[in-house]
Amino acid sequence: MFIYRARVFDTPSDPFAGGALRSDSDVAIVVDDGQIIARTDFAAAAAKHSDAEVVDLRAGVLIPGLIDTHVHYPQVRAIGYLGMPLLDWLDHCALPEETKLGDEAYASAVAGDFLTGLTSAGTTSAMVFGSHFASAMDTFFSQAAEVGLRITSGLVTSDRILPEPLLTSVEKSVSESQGLIDRWHGQGRLRYAVTPRFSFSAGQELLAAGGQLVADNPGIWVTSHLNENRDEVAGVAEMFPEALDYLDTYDRAGLLNRRTILAHNVHPSDRELARMAEVGAASAHCPTSNSNLASGFFPLRRHIETGVRVALGSDVGAGTGFSLLKEGVQAYFMQQLDPSGGLPLTSAHLLHLATAAGAQALELSDEVGDLSVGKRFDAAYIAPAEGQPLAVGLEHASSDEDALAKIFAMGTPADIARVWVDGEPVKG
Ligand code: GUN
Ligand code: ZN
Repeated sequence: MFIYRARVFDTPSDPFAGGALRSDSDVAIVVDDGQIIARTDFAAAAAKHSDAEVVDLRAGVLIPGLIDTHVHYPQVRAIGYLGMPLLDWLDHCALPEETKLGDEAYASAVAGDFLTGLTSAGTTSAMVFGSHFASAMDTFFSQAAEVGLRITSGLVTSDRILPEPLLTSVEKSVSESQGLIDRWHGQGRLRYAVTPRFSFSAGQELLAAGGQLVADNPGIWVTSHLNENRDEVAGVAEMFPEALDYLDTYDRAGLLNRRTILAHNVHPSDRELARMAEVGAASAHCPTSNSNLASGFFPLRRHIETGVRVALGSDVGAGTGFSLLKEGVQAYFMQQLDPSGGLPLTSAHLLHLATAAGAQALELSDEVGDLSVGKRFDAAYIAPAEGQPLAVGLEHASSDEDALAKIFAMGTPADIARVWVDGEPVKG
């Protein structure tokens, strides 16, 4: 049993629905077998659990483990290419790198780099966009299980447009996916997601085969891309003349439900948003990627007003790294700058988007997303080195909300000293 004595920030009540930051300057979180069994003042916790090991975290700030709802495992070595829109970036940067994962040793090394990226950034749960190679998915799931993160992921499928080594057939995609589902879905903290790359590179039959996998395997997930870039959206409209819109290409294939997370959705129609709200599908908002590829301004206000769930994604490698603190502040910047009128965001909104909203999108809210009694202890401890600007900022912050804003403005993975999943350390 452990007592974590800390300054704790979390958002159990949604700031987009009138909630506010919950901040405790000195509270004891009692963790037994990975579960938070009490959250109380330190003297009471120490008296009641005199055998517990006390971990003093008062030098920094404890937050819930960060939750990344869109991050590409095979792209960790492709971060940082600048100056291209989506389709050029895919051709010149992402896809050449992704073909290399056909080599098992290469994929294994990339999986290690990727998982280190997640844990270093304080990410404890993620919807991970996988590889086109089943062998690369086996090595990824196996390493993710060893590290212990909460990972939902699956084989990426495409049968047109992309380089030949990345293409599959309907039959091959079904047999490989079903094998991966049988081996990994529900193993520990792992879950499977049917993952057509995007309708731009997947024909109707391939999409429908994914829908059949969803029907045959209750409880599995779906992830893909949606409405990211205007050329991509126009291309999908041309390829699927019978579909109502881009979203409908997934919907008519049986891929749209409450366990569906669609990345970007920068250019949605009102119908698409209404349909997403109706079925409970979520958008993964990837603000550094949207900026880097000049994809556009994410319509956060329209999502919230329509009742579509939104959480954050780093979109490695079109994004700029694994930090959801950076994604949070970039989301704020983009809302500030949006010429059509963005939604003003506070630091509590940013923390919610990076934690509790991700847990909701991944249907993990019963377990994680905040540090309340009953939840699993997934947490990140932010402790900047003495004298660093973030340490100075935290010391002189005018309020807890201000301190949290400084964490988003200045915090980096180097400031994340310790990370736990289910009470087990995964960093520090
Ligand atoms: N659409 C299809 N594939 C990708 C990808 O790898 N990254 C992004 N940002 N969008 C995509
Ligand atoms: Zn993506």
